[in-house]
Amino acid sequence: MVIPVILCGGSGTRLWPLSRKAFPKQFVPLINGKSLLQITLERMAAINVDDGLSDVLCVAFEGHRFLVLDALQTAMVSGAIILEPIGKNTAPAMALAALSVDPDEILLFCPSDHYIPDVKEFSTMIGQACAAAHADSIVVFGIQPTYPSSAYGYIQRDAVKIFNGHRVSRFIEKPNAIDAAALILEGNALWNSGIFLCRANTLLSALQQHAPDILESCKLAMKNVALDEQFMRPDPNVFSSCRAESIDYAVMEHCDNIIVVPFRGAWSDVGSWNAVAELTPPDVRGNRIVGQGLAVESDRTYIYAPHRPVVALGTQDVMIIDTPDALLVVAHNSVEKVKGVVAKLEALD
Ligand code: GDD
Ligand code: MG
Repeated sequence: MVIPVILCGGSGTRLWPLSRKAFPKQFVPLINGKSLLQITLERMAAINVDDGLSDVLCVAFEGHRFLVLDALQTAMVSGAIILEPIGKNTAPAMALAALSVDPDEILLFCPSDHYIPDVKEFSTMIGQACAAAHADSIVVFGIQPTYPSSAYGYIQRDAVKIFNGHRVSRFIEKPNAIDAAALILEGNALWNSGIFLCRANTLLSALQQHAPDILESCKLAMKNVALDEQFMRPDPNVFSSCRAESIDYAVMEHCDNIIVVPFRGAWSDVGSWNAVAELTPPDVRGNRIVGQGLAVESDRTYIYAPHRPVVALGTQDVMIIDTPDALLVVAHNSVEKVKGVVAKLEALD
């Protein structure tokens, strides 16, 4: 069986003011009234693989449990939810999931906040990658880079083809812009899409080898797991003392059994306002409008205005995001700095 595991815990501060700690971007209705989590759940439920597909497993923060339940119900997908008392990043979240299932099951780890419109291509890609996962590899899905982003992991691969893909020779998580540019210039680097496919046991062995402290904390936390209908609650005291680390730094940068296959179809991690804007088609002057926005004598202006009229007059390359309690006006080339501004706002509180 393939068990889809949806990682629901991110805080998505790059999409402030729409995405907040209590209501992060994966829960926000962003595309035709649907949230990215709902669309992810629908995509997962539609996967058709020879191994068969099990119910989904979500890993989320305690405070978001009703948001996840609501998304499951709206998407009409059945599943269980592991609840983390606090966020410890993806390595512990993935360890909890791997510890909660049969070690031979194949886990498909998926972010909850990505936009992948082509469900059929996605399903084919996962189906073809299962053989490598059965053979004890961790499969990652590589995207052709378009610019030297520091927001992604970079994958370098061997020339020899294996299992529809290539063995990964180096995994470099979030290099700085100069190193990212050098990796792209070298020619064979791909971005890591953030989706992982492997047997539960393959992940547990990798954690044992490269992050044994994280595995130990998660094992202890799952030993005292509290079951409550769909919810699984690992021991909060034990889990709270677990080291926080992403799977990319904790495991992927050190592993030698990774296989990369090319990502099939379109992919966006909806990681900045520019990426959100691209989900709305532009008019002839490049303006993109959501809700009650009006762009007059403006070019390449994005207005998100679901609640009240918002007018942009004579603007160029600007994004305006209007929410009931906060307004963001940001130049196109400054969207990457929104995350830093949110940190400053939090410091003022
Ligand atoms: N349950 C849980 N708990 N989920 C979490 C936690 C946590 O503590 N932290 C993050 N997540 C979820 C996020 O909601 C997201 O769906 C997914 O795990 C990935 O986390 P991000 O924080 O968004 O990672 P990233 O975007 O910085 O980097 C990852 O994704 C990139 C592609 O978008 C890495 O895998 C990169 O290598 C990759 O290029
Ligand atoms: Mg992300």
